[in-house]
Amino acid sequence: MSVASGECVAILGHSGSGKSTLLNLIAGLDKPSSGIVTVNGTRVDQLGEAGSAKYRRASIGMIFQFFNLLDDLTVLDNVMVPARLAGMGKGEAKRRAVELLGSLGIDRHAKAYPQRLSGGQRQRVAVARALMNRPALLLADEPTGALDSSSAEDVRQLLLELVR
Ligand SMILES: Nc1ncnc2c1ncn2[C@@H]1O[C@H](COP(=O)(O)OP(=O)(O)OP(=O)(O)O)[C@@H](O)[C@H]1O
Ligand SMILES: [Mg+2]
Repeated sequence: MSVASGECVAILGHSGSGKSTLLNLIAGLDKPSSGIVTVNGTRVDQLGEAGSAKYRRASIGMIFQFFNLLDDLTVLDNVMVPARLAGMGKGEAKRRAVELLGSLGIDRHAKAYPQRLSGGQRQRVAVARALMNRPALLLADEPTGALDSSSAEDVRQLLLELVR
């Protein structure tokens, strides 16, 4: 399988067919027993633990079914985490996070804690966090699976808009 820059691919398959496993292999969270995974020129299957963490920070944004936000941090702080881990200064990280939250239409919730937000709003926060380090690749594992049909449609449109 190969995916071109700017391309948007949906992976379909029965429960247990290996969709999450494939995404974990691409993210370097799992290692293949055979085969090659190359992302943006990097042999992901050959990275060690530290290299793999660095690769994820620099090149990958991930969105999950159940958001995986940190409940003890505000929305703004959640979105800033990847940039802070990558060494970006606090001021710059905050500016970018506010800008992203604004473009996703949730900046008025910046100071709220995730549990005060609806599912659709939480997923928008997760999308903002995933985009923080301008990843080459955005991976989403059933990103609308926990949302009602109208929020699911919003998130689907948002993701397609990002690709465009
Ligand atoms: N850590 C693991 N060790 C061994 N087998 C695993 C492990 N994780 C998943 N599997 C198996 O690998 C197969 C693929 O699982 P995976 O989670 O990738 O499926 P999926 O397509 O994402 O399914 P779903 O739609 O239910 O999320 C399954 O048979 C599962 O039981
Ligand atoms: Mg899965």
